[in-house]
Amino acid sequence: MTQDKFKGLEEGRIFPPSEEFRNKALISDVGIYKKADDRLAFWEERAGTLSWFQKWNSVLEWKPPFAKWFNGGKINASYNCLDRHLEGSRRNKPAIIFEGEHGDSFELSYEELHQEVCKFANVLKSMGVQKGEVVTIYMPMIPEAVVAMLACARIGAPHSVVFGGFSAEALRDRINDGGSKVLVTSDAAYRRGKILPIKENVCAALQGVEGIEKVIIVNRTNTKIEIIKGRDFWYHKLMEQASTECPAEKMDAEDMLFILYTSGTTGKPKGVVHTTGGYLTGVATTHEFVFDLKEDDIYWCTADIGWITGHSYLVYGPLTNGSTIVIFEGTPDYPEKDRFWQIVEKYKVTILYTAPTAIRTFMKWGAEYPAKRDLSSLRLLGSVGEPINPEAWTWYHKYIGGERCPIVDTWWQTETGMIMISPLPGVTDLKPGSCTRPFPGVKVEMLDRSGQPVEKGDVGFVAISEPWPAMLRTVYGDDRRFIDTYWSNWPNKYFAGDGAKLDKDGYYWIIGRVDDVINVSGHRIGTAEVESVLVEHHAVAEAACIGKNHEVKGQAIAAFVTLREGFKASEELIAELKSYVSKKIGAIARPDDLYLTDDLPKTRSGKIIRRILKDIAEGRSIGDTTTLADSSTLESLKKLSHN
Ligand code: WTA
Repeated sequence: MTQDKFKGLEEGRIFPPSEEFRNKALISDVGIYKKADDRLAFWEERAGTLSWFQKWNSVLEWKPPFAKWFNGGKINASYNCLDRHLEGSRRNKPAIIFEGEHGDSFELSYEELHQEVCKFANVLKSMGVQKGEVVTIYMPMIPEAVVAMLACARIGAPHSVVFGGFSAEALRDRINDGGSKVLVTSDAAYRRGKILPIKENVCAALQGVEGIEKVIIVNRTNTKIEIIKGRDFWYHKLMEQASTECPAEKMDAEDMLFILYTSGTTGKPKGVVHTTGGYLTGVATTHEFVFDLKEDDIYWCTADIGWITGHSYLVYGPLTNGSTIVIFEGTPDYPEKDRFWQIVEKYKVTILYTAPTAIRTFMKWGAEYPAKRDLSSLRLLGSVGEPINPEAWTWYHKYIGGERCPIVDTWWQTETGMIMISPLPGVTDLKPGSCTRPFPGVKVEMLDRSGQPVEKGDVGFVAISEPWPAMLRTVYGDDRRFIDTYWSNWPNKYFAGDGAKLDKDGYYWIIGRVDDVINVSGHRIGTAEVESVLVEHHAVAEAACIGKNHEVKGQAIAAFVTLREGFKASEELIAELKSYVSKKIGAIARPDDLYLTDDLPKTRSGKIIRRILKDIAEGRSIGDTTTLADSSTLESLKKLSHN
């Protein structure tokens, strides 16, 4: 970790909440932090704002690293997202505003969404889905994806949503790991005016998969697809006959709500397990407090449902809180580069939650695109997924937020389930580039390798030293990996895998991952994942990947490959290998740069020296080479170096 990146940053401008914002803010009293020092009392009170069928026996049972929150309580996530809003004025309030890629649009009120969910829950039952059985969802950004998630939750079937941009093979691995019998998908997806295959990938994925018995397909694009009799069913046909009556299952607070796969340091993605009562308490509370939620907000989170942000802050948090959410099917540059701003204008969006990579892209396109649209409805902006550089923060604040909207830079992870470090917009003085302070009731520490807290002004590793309600409970089917990955660095403290700097005011400045995970446009990709795909290619002997700094994406993948005997380096082979990764994992994992080299830099014990590869990829002269086992490697590497 280097400290240079942060030199002088804290001296930048500070943005306290405006008088006007503070006056109307849900939380404007800094006393909330003190109050939440009694963590269990704080979270218990928050859990009390949800609807329970039966109260819990204990707030927390902690047998490190295994936690049970609100044990003995009975609850249902779909009931909390839907049924409880049907009593009063929220019944007819829009739950979902959908904006299709072509500008087609419709709304679903809470009552209508409830009906759809009940119907689909009955469909799932008719397909034989049992409580506790994992259902895989592989869909584009359409409301049926949310219906499918909530229908699973309703009948107590954990969902495993696989990002629609993942390849057939990535989908197959996740289906197999979760052991699903039922898959919900669509015929295809719209993307930048073209039609992307979805069902075709499903068919490819299912070759060689024993488990899947039924596939339910939403017709989104009228694409002609192959239907296998007895296995494949049209969503709309099944829905025609389904009843709207489906009581929500009374689930234990600790029953699994979903699995979500994320990349780690080995080739195999981890199935992060989240349960019900604590997760909902955590996401609903953070959604309400961090976004300063008001009843009439139009809330737009641009994340895909395939990622944790889509789970926690597109679906479960906002719907538990009875918000109106915008779901957008398309991309920011289609048909024009002002698409986001056109949507903000069209629906009078008040809260926008997006990623730094998107903001940097908008910066590059220029301020004339947002300037064309009326963005005066916006009152709060959010950022998530990677560090936001102060330049991008300032641009976002000025050109999107009109210098009136606070920005909440929220740090968290698939594993944490909920926002962990973030401003409270009515309380916190903002510093561009810092995610500021831990959320009330969350105990974050900055530790050194030996587990000692670092001094203010120093860099260290982000640790979470007390359990929190939305924490992951384990890695699906692999407690050992759960323990080894997160709980083995320091006794009973969670290792987040991020490095950060703590400034003199106790503000956190996240530097980035300290493990072999690359964050490309806010998406986590394990270097080992890409490497193991590359070495599957018949021409490849060895591969090593690194994340190189990238102006827009934050990081981009650079791959270094040595070839097997008899294979010759060529531009064609480079292109083929890049496409191979894309085909095997998905376009997000495609290396930006791929170098064919005679040797990889290794230490005497055979460990690849990634630092040297980083120097090459980022166009610097190669730094310290004293640990290099074979100095002749340097000659072949120098040929690659730009310097
Ligand atoms: C990074 C996304 C800096 C971090 C919610 C973390 C961030 C990883 C921020 C988790 C932020 C997320 N500032 N870095 N505000 N938010 N990260 O699991 O490295 O997809 O470990 O969860 O993203 O990515 P994940």
